[in-house]
Amino acid sequence: MTSILFVCLGNICRSPTAHAIMQHKVDQAGLSQTFRIDSAGTGAYHIGKAPDPRSISAGAQYGYDLTPLRARQLTSEDLQTFDYVLAMDAQNLAYIRNLAAPHTMPSTKAHLGLLLDFAGAGQHGEVPDPYYGGDAGFATVIDLCEQACDGLLARVMAQ
Ligand code: 4NP
Repeated sequence: MTSILFVCLGNICRSPTAHAIMQHKVDQAGLSQTFRIDSAGTGAYHIGKAPDPRSISAGAQYGYDLTPLRARQLTSEDLQTFDYVLAMDAQNLAYIRNLAAPHTMPSTKAHLGLLLDFAGAGQHGEVPDPYYGGDAGFATVIDLCEQACDGLLARVMAQ
C-alpha cells in the first residue's frame, strides 16, 4: 500500500484536482487496492466544502470527477500516516515542514516535497493558485497535475 496526500491552501482548487487526477490514474492502472489517495488544506477556511465550482467544471471537461470530495485541514497525524505528502507550492511545503518539525511531533518518515518535482524536466516549481484568476488558471492546474501524477505513478511503481 502506498499512501499519497496532496496539500494546498484551501483544499478546494489545486489539491482536490490532483487528488481526482491521481485517483483516476491509479484506477485506470488497476491499482486501486494498492494506493490510498487523499488531499487536505493547510488553511481552515473551507473545511467541509465541496471543491470550487470552477475546479469541478474544469475537471469534468478533462474527465475527472471532483464532486465527491470535501475539504479538510491537514493534521500532524497525516504526516505519520501518509508515505508522500506533496505540496502545490513552497508556502504550503514550508507549513508542512514546520508541522513535521521535531519539536512539534515525532519525526515523520513521509516524503515531504513539491508535487511538481515529479513532473517532466523544467516543471520543477509550483502549481499556481488559480483562486483569484480566470478559467485558464484552472486548466493550467489540470495540465501540471496530470504531468506530475504520471511521473509520480511511474516513480512509485519503479520502487
Ligand atoms: P487552493 O486555492 O489552495 O488551490 O484550494 C485557494 C482556495 C481558497 C483560497 C485561496 C486559495 N482562499 O483564500 O480562500
